Formats: sequence, C-alpha cells, structure tokens
Amino acid sequence: MRLMVTGGAGFIGSNFIRGFLARHPETQLINVDLLTYAGNRDNMEGFTSYPGYVFVQADINDREQLVKFFEQGLDGVINFAAESHVDRSIAEPHLFAQTNILGTLNLLTLAREYEVPKFIQISTDEVYGTLGPTGQFTEESPLAPNSPYAASKAGADLLARAFYITYGLPVVITRCSNNYGPYQFPEKLIPLVLINALKGEPVPLYGDGKQVRDWIHVADHCRAVEMILQQGKPGTVYNIGAENERTNLEVVRSILRILGKPESLIRFVADRPGHDRRYALAAGKIRRELGWEPEISFEQGLAETVAWYVEHQAWWEKIISGEYQSYYQRFYLPRLEGKE
Ligand code: NAD
Ligand code: DAU
Repeated sequence: MRLMVTGGAGFIGSNFIRGFLARHPETQLINVDLLTYAGNRDNMEGFTSYPGYVFVQADINDREQLVKFFEQGLDGVINFAAESHVDRSIAEPHLFAQTNILGTLNLLTLAREYEVPKFIQISTDEVYGTLGPTGQFTEESPLAPNSPYAASKAGADLLARAFYITYGLPVVITRCSNNYGPYQFPEKLIPLVLINALKGEPVPLYGDGKQVRDWIHVADHCRAVEMILQQGKPGTVYNIGAENERTNLEVVRSILRILGKPESLIRFVADRPGHDRRYALAAGKIRRELGWEPEISFEQGLAETVAWYVEHQAWWEKIISGEYQSYYQRFYLPRLEGKE
C-alpha cells in the first residue's frame, strides 16, 4: 500500500504513523508536513527508519511539491495537517482558512485528478458547535461552528463532501472529540497543565472551568482511523469518541492529584471568546458498522500520559525553551495577569 499522511509530525499524525507502521511495516508511507510551530521532528522518533517511510517538508497548499507523489500513484490520503488550536484561530483566522480550507481543497483536487481510491478528511466534533447540559452530537447534527478554527474545519468538511457528490471522489470524514496522550503540543489543556504543574507554575482555567470536553486517548482515535481506511464507507461521516465527559476543572484536579501538586496552583482567568460550553459525541455508528471500541479508560490513559510527560522532560523542555516562549508571552501571561 502507498499512503500519503499529512501532518505526521504533529500530535495525532505522528501517533497514527507510529502505530500504523508498527502494524503494517511494509507500507510505503509519505508523510507531508510543513513543520510549523506544532510540527516537530522529535515526534517522528521511532518510525523514520522503516524502509517505505518518506518525509517531505511541504505545505499542503503546494501543488508543485506534492504532485509527483500523486503521479506515482497513491492508495489513500489521510489529511491530518491543520492549524489546530482554537486560541490561535481567534488571533489569526486567515492562517486557519489558508491551511484548513485551501490546503484541503488542494489535496482534494490532486486526489480527484489522480483518482486516489480513498481520501480521509480528519475533522473534529467542534464543527457541530456547542451543547447544553444534555444530549450528544450525532453525524446528522447540523454544522454550527463557533470559532474560526471550527469554521475552517467545517469549510473543509463541506468541500470534501462536495468532492464526493460532484466528482465521486471516495471521501470519508471523521469527527473526533478531544484527544490526549503522548507528543501533544503544550498549548493544549492537558499538556499545558501538566508541564506548568511540574514546574510549580500557575495553571490557567478559562472562565468558571465548568466547560465540558469529551476525552479520547489518541491511540483509540488512531485505531479508528485505521479501521476507516480499511472499511469506511465513502461519502459518509464517522464520529469518533469514547464518552468520557469531564469538566475542565475535573481534568485539572485529576492531573494535580496524580502529580501530588496543590490545587492552589489553579488560576481562574479570562474566558476564551465564544467558548463552547459542552461537547459530547455519540459514536454508535462506528461501533455498530466497523466494530471499533475504545480500549483505554480516561483514568488509565491520563495516568499513563502524566507518566509520559514526566519521563519525557527533554522533549517538552526543548519545545518550551524555543519559539513557544513568544506564544506564552502573547497568550498566557496576559490571561494570568488579568489583562485580557
Ligand atoms: P497538531 O497541531 O499537533 O499538528 C498539526 C500538524 O500539521 C503539525 O505537524 C503541523 O506542522 C502540520 N501542518 C500545519 N499546517 C500545515 C500545512 N499548511 N502543510 C502541511 N503541514 C501542516 O494537531 P493535532 O492535534 O495532531 O490535530 C491533527 C488533526 O486532527 C487536525 O486536523 C485537527 O483538526 C484534528 N483533530 C484534533 C483533535 C485534538 O484533540 N487534538 C481532535 C479532533 C480532530
Ligand atoms: O474537540 C476537538 C478539538 O479539541 C480539536 O478539534 C482541537 O484541534 C483541539 O485543540 C481541541 O480543542 P479545545 O479547544 O477543546 O482544546 P484545548 O486543549 O485548547 O482546550 C480544552 C478546554 O480547556 C477548553 O474548554 C478550553 C480550556 N482551557 C484550555 C487551555 C489551553 C483552559 O481552561 N485553560 C487553558 O489554558
């Protein structure tokens, strides 16, 4: 099999490639990643030596750099590449449209031209918007994105759908809930809290901390994507979620408890504009149709994730001493200091 995976130096993409190549070492796998601030060569440790693995540093918008891989023939494209952080999208919406919408359009266009038999668009539950205290999003829920990030992902979903309907490109869209696990960039809640707590620094919780997210371990997400690659029905959407709803405050308290750190580290700071209150995802379709089941409970997965960050201090020290500094100054310090 010859597979193109985009965004494979990021959090989920690198976890996907590591698991996939371990199970299918004979695959010709082309990893296309621009290595933005979120892409990290260190995330690719352990899979660069597979004989069929090729890394290409390129923008998914760059037709010229990508076309030769399509010309050589591909059995599938999995598009993980994206700008993925909601707070950054509030500051830089154009970049999100450029990568998430136009970049996906470029890949869809190439896949159509070279008749790729499977295109998986990795989307998100955030395209459905926000929920009240009850109910779950199903694949039929209307798209109602609230952040520029979510809107850009919804735009990509609609283009992917249109390529199926108009041109018959065999597209499958996946919508997963909040992932956690190893190699997640420390702008996201769980690694940010973990690292701040390990350093004895304050842990920022937006608003009242009672927003609800539905957590899934990245390994369970990646196995679902692999099953969709093998058996997913073109032209359809699969929600991927493990039904682990927690308030942000509960998540932060659990991390502090595992680390033996005091709750006095928690700081309630200015809320995120347009902050979605609750996500909860119904994932019955993928369970019924493909037989997928999550295998990692939130308690076990969180404890293992905490242990991973404790053991991989060199990995995150390198990140936080680099370009991350300017992000921290721009986004976190103003919040912690109450200036936002
Ligand atoms: P991430 O930010 O960790 O990784 C994104 C990767 O894409 C990085 O390696 C980056 O260098 C690369 N990239 C960015 N712009 C690019 C471009 N123009 N061309 C090529 N590469 C580019 O993100 P993640 O958390 O691993 O998310 C991966 C995908 O999964 C995204 O599409 C995201 O929307 C989706 N998703 C994420 C979650 C989550 O909880 N993290 C949940 C559901 C869906
Ligand atoms: O639901 C899937 C989405 O999950 C993905 O599509 C996104 O790519 C991914 O970033 C994630 O989005 P969230 O906005 O839910 O994740 P984040 O880790 O940024 O925030 C999780 C919750 O924690 C959210 O309610 C905001 C809150 N939060 C976040 C940070 C970084 C805080 O309270 N304090 C923080 O410092």
